Amino acid sequence: MKTKQIKTLDAFIGTILIPVYETNAKSIVPIEYHGVTVSSKVFYGKKDTHYLVDKYDCTHIFIGLGKEIDYKSIKTIFRRIASKQKEVFGQTVALVFPDQFKADEVEAAVSGLILGTYDLGHYKKNEAHPFANENFELKYIAKGEIEEAINKGIKIANAQLETFNLVDLPPNKVNPKYLADWATQAGKKYGFDVTVFGKEKSTEIGLHSFLSVGKGSANEPQFIIMDYKPEKAKKHIGLVGKGITFDTGGLNIKTAGMVQMKCDMAGAAAVLGAMQLVSDLQLPYRVTAIVPACENSVDAHSFMPSDVIQSYAGHSIEIIDTDAEGRLILVDGLSYLIKNYQPETVIDLATLTGSVVGTLGYECAGLFTNNQELSQKLQQSGDAIGERLWQLPLWDAYKSDIDSEIADVKNYSGKPVAGAISAAKFLEYFTEDHKSWAHLDIAGVAFGDSEFAKTKHATAYGVHLITKFIENL
Ligand code: BES
Ligand code: ZN
Ligand code: ZN
Repeated sequence: MKTKQIKTLDAFIGTILIPVYETNAKSIVPIEYHGVTVSSKVFYGKKDTHYLVDKYDCTHIFIGLGKEIDYKSIKTIFRRIASKQKEVFGQTVALVFPDQFKADEVEAAVSGLILGTYDLGHYKKNEAHPFANENFELKYIAKGEIEEAINKGIKIANAQLETFNLVDLPPNKVNPKYLADWATQAGKKYGFDVTVFGKEKSTEIGLHSFLSVGKGSANEPQFIIMDYKPEKAKKHIGLVGKGITFDTGGLNIKTAGMVQMKCDMAGAAAVLGAMQLVSDLQLPYRVTAIVPACENSVDAHSFMPSDVIQSYAGHSIEIIDTDAEGRLILVDGLSYLIKNYQPETVIDLATLTGSVVGTLGYECAGLFTNNQELSQKLQQSGDAIGERLWQLPLWDAYKSDIDSEIADVKNYSGKPVAGAISAAKFLEYFTEDHKSWAHLDIAGVAFGDSEFAKTKHATAYGVHLITKFIENL
C-alpha cells in the first residue's frame, strides 16, 4: 500500500473514512465533517458502530471510536471497516486522522486497514481487495508529521499477513521445505542470513530428538537457522518457534481436533514473521532464530511410545506419548541455539499443549520463565498491543513429572494435570540454566475464531509482541 498526505478534500471523489470519538447519544450538536451533518440520533461515535453517508460524490464512513480506545480495538475496528465494507471502496480512499491520534494509534489504524484485505479463501476465485493492489494509494489528512507511524503500521501488517498465510495455508502446501524456502527468500529480501540443515546434516550434528519426530513423514525435516546481524547491535536475542507443519499425534494418533493441526507451526510462523518485521524495521539488535520444522505423521518408520531417543544436548529421552512431539523438536532448537550462539535472552513460541487452553482459554498465552524482569517486559509489550501473556509457575515441585526410570527424562508425565507446566519443565531441562529464557505456550491464541471468518484462522500472535519486546529492550 502506498500513502499520500493531502491538505484538503476539495475536489476529492471517493470514500472518506472519518473516525470519531464518542459524543453523547442525546447530544444536540451533530457530528459534522466535509459538509455532512450526522445527528446523534443515528450516530454519535459509539465504539463498534459506523454510519455511511453518500454526498458530494463521496461515500463518507463515520467510524465510532468510543470515548477512549486501546491499540487492539483501533486495529480491529479498521480491519473490520476494510474487510466488511470492501464493496464501497474504489481506488480512491481518504482517511482523516483525528488530531488526538498518537503515533501508535496511527500505526494501529493503518495496520488494521491492511489486515482487512486478508481473505481466508486462498483457493477460491475471489476478487482481490482494492487495498491489496500494489498501486493502491491511501490518501490521508493529518495535523502533524505521521509518515513514520504510517510506514511502521504498514510493515507490521505486512509481516502479520505473511504469518496468516503460513498458518492458514494447508499442510500439503506448507510443509517443512516451504518454511525453509520462505525463510531463504525473506532473508534475501530483508537482509538476514539463513542456513538450513536437512536430514543428513541434522543427523551428522546430532539433532536426534528433532529427527525422531519427523521419522514417519514423507517430507524431509528442515532445521532452519536465521541470523539478523545489524552493525553495532545493542543486544543479542535468540528465538525458537515450533514448526510442526501437521500434528497427527503420531502413533498416539489424535482422536479429537486433528483437523486443526495445520496450526501447529504457528510458533514457527510467528518467529518467521518477527524476523521479517525486525529486519524490515532495521532494529539495532542481533536476532538469531531457529525453526525446527517437520511433520508428525504415522507410518512404519514412526517413532514409538517407549522408544528411548537421544538429543543434541546429550540427554536421553523416554517417549511416553508421540503426541507430545513439540517439546522434542524445541529442545534441540533451544540447545543448538544456546550452545552455538549464546544469546543474552532466549524466547520460544509454541502451540505446545491443550492444557494451556484449558487453563487460560483464548485470551492470553501461557508464559513460563524464571526471570521476573523478562516476564515483566514481555507482559508490558503484550499489554500495549493486546497480545496478552499470563505467567504460570515453573517450580521444581513439578520436576518429578518428567523423571524417567530408563532415561534422563520422559516427554510426558502420563497424568491429566498441569500439562502446560510439565511441558515447560521439560524445555527448561534443556536450557542449560540460561538466566534469561522464556517459553510462550500459544496453543490458545495462535489460531481461533473471530468476526473475520467462519472457521478458525491464524491470529499472527507473537509477531508484533516479540518485535515490540525487542524494540523496548
Ligand atoms: N499440538 C498439540 C497442542 C495443541 C493443542 C495445539 C490445541 C493447538 C491447539 C501438542 O503437540 C499436543 O498434542 N499436546 C498434547 C500433549 C499430551 C499428549 C502430553 C496435549 O496437550 O493434549
Ligand atoms: Zn502433539
Ligand atoms: Zn503439536
